[in-house]
Amino acid sequence: MKLAIGCDHGGFELKKEVLQHLAARGIEVTDVGCNDGASCDYPVYSKKVTDLVNAGTVDLGILICGTGIGMSMAANKEPGIRAALCHDVFSAKATREHNNANVLCMGARVVGAGLALMIIDTFLDTPFSEDERHIRRISYFS
Ligand code: RB5
Repeated sequence: MKLAIGCDHGGFELKKEVLQHLAARGIEVTDVGCNDGASCDYPVYSKKVTDLVNAGTVDLGILICGTGIGMSMAANKEPGIRAALCHDVFSAKATREHNNANVLCMGARVVGAGLALMIIDTFLDTPFSEDERHIRRISYFS
């Protein structure tokens, strides 16, 4: 599995912990930035990740900002992207099974690192159900 990850300044510290965790899992990750805690614009990094997902360069994307909201709004403007803002494990599992979400968004000011890593593991380890009804519903918007 290949991943792309991006953040703004609000998500930079959490992204460092996520990168360590993904490395320990042996997952290949493209980190598109940002690369420090200086103030920056989250849509820039959202677009870098969604471009990699839409190109098929990576299988899934992870976006982290302060709330996760800006990242999810920006990501979902891109055709082909199904970005899910998840701050609990149930939603992370359900959005893979039901929505075939291809980008996970989180807010570093909302969840601690421990929960964030559980959410990420759940998202990555849950396959799409392939149920006809879910395929049909997704087809309305992607
Ligand atoms: C940055 O202060 C903050 O607005 C951003 O990280 C994000 O929460 C936007 O949705």
